[in-house]
Amino acid sequence: MPEYSHTVENETIIEKITNNKIVVGIGFLVGLVFIALVSINIIQAFKRPSTTKTPVVLQGDETKYFTEIKRATQGGVNAEAYWSFDSTKLVFQGIRDGHAPCDQIFTMNADGTDVKQVSVGEGKTTCGYYLKDGKSIIYSSSMDTYGKGCPPAPDSSFGYVWAVYKMNMYKADATTGQIIKNLTSSDYYEAEGTLSPDGNTIVFTSTRDGDLELYTMDTNGDNVKRLTYTPGYDGGAFFSHDGKKIVWRANRPRGSQLGNYLDLLKLGLVEPVNYPMDIYIMNSDGSNQKKLTNIGGANFAPSFLPDDSGIIFASNQNHGDTRQFHLYIVDVDGKNLRRVTTGGTYNLFPHFSYDGKYLSWSSDRDASAPHLMDVYVAKVSDLIKKN
Ligand SMILES: *[C@@H]1O[C@H](CO)[C@@H](O)[C@H](O)[C@H]1NC(C)=O
Repeated sequence: MPEYSHTVENETIIEKITNNKIVVGIGFLVGLVFIALVSINIIQAFKRPSTTKTPVVLQGDETKYFTEIKRATQGGVNAEAYWSFDSTKLVFQGIRDGHAPCDQIFTMNADGTDVKQVSVGEGKTTCGYYLKDGKSIIYSSSMDTYGKGCPPAPDSSFGYVWAVYKMNMYKADATTGQIIKNLTSSDYYEAEGTLSPDGNTIVFTSTRDGDLELYTMDTNGDNVKRLTYTPGYDGGAFFSHDGKKIVWRANRPRGSQLGNYLDLLKLGLVEPVNYPMDIYIMNSDGSNQKKLTNIGGANFAPSFLPDDSGIIFASNQNHGDTRQFHLYIVDVDGKNLRRVTTGGTYNLFPHFSYDGKYLSWSSDRDASAPHLMDVYVAKVSDLIKKN
């Protein structure tokens, strides 16, 4: 299953997707030949002009939750598309034809027109989010910690692990991409930033205190406060629309697993997952932390419904194939779990537009080759709006 934070998450989802296909493939074919074929497919997929418009359809219960769906991107690996406050634009990260070989930040109109790279093209760049004025964005990049190229792949001698890269957070002009301010300047992982509804506070994930924990800061990088203290990976946080709550995902390794987790983290590595990842909710000052999911497996990428009555998130549980990730909704009291998506094998990073009318997420439902993902935008039905 994929890794669970933005950066680590996206990285690992890509790697995991590849990995799943390879593992599945080895079952049927001669491993190396298959891997070579997969690689060629991927390369060809990236080289193919990305203009094919696949008809996009809603499947199963999706027709209850959505009235229409549009594929907003056409090719590449596109993930973590989050709305501007005026609900007209999306900022997302992508590995796309004609751009750097590791993630860059792009913006587009909600209908998929006017895609523009807005990161400077150096380093691995992830976790974009609009500031409230719509004129600037925040994102994380490895450009000042590892230089212009992509950061090194994790050391495979530690087994099946992924890197928690040293990355810093930046504020940049949403149109020109020019960096306006360094929000952090550290040798740690500083990423997964999203905004409070009043636009004044960033919640983010950092390793600055020796564990992956959640923090808030002002939009100029000042006034940093720590919100979580429990050992394990706390990340991927989003505010509720009334600003009172924060939802996030965490794993809680215990005993020898905890020792192993902390040892690896010191080396800048995390294990994909040997322990469940769950959805948690707390007050936005860090008080009253509660676990919302109890279904095992990997539950991540949570964000609030438009009326804050529930949480939408991605899970590999409850649909009979843990290699598939689908979107689920659960009420804020942890009850009434319901499945939302049916199409594709990956449905990740759901985020409602601020006007409550649309949901964006990433899916492979029309992908032309293994492990490619596009951003989809669906108009939500009253079932979600009134829920
Ligand atoms: C951000 O930090 C980098 C690396 O220290 C530095 O080169 C750059 O000038 C800084 N940018 C701004 C806008 O302060």
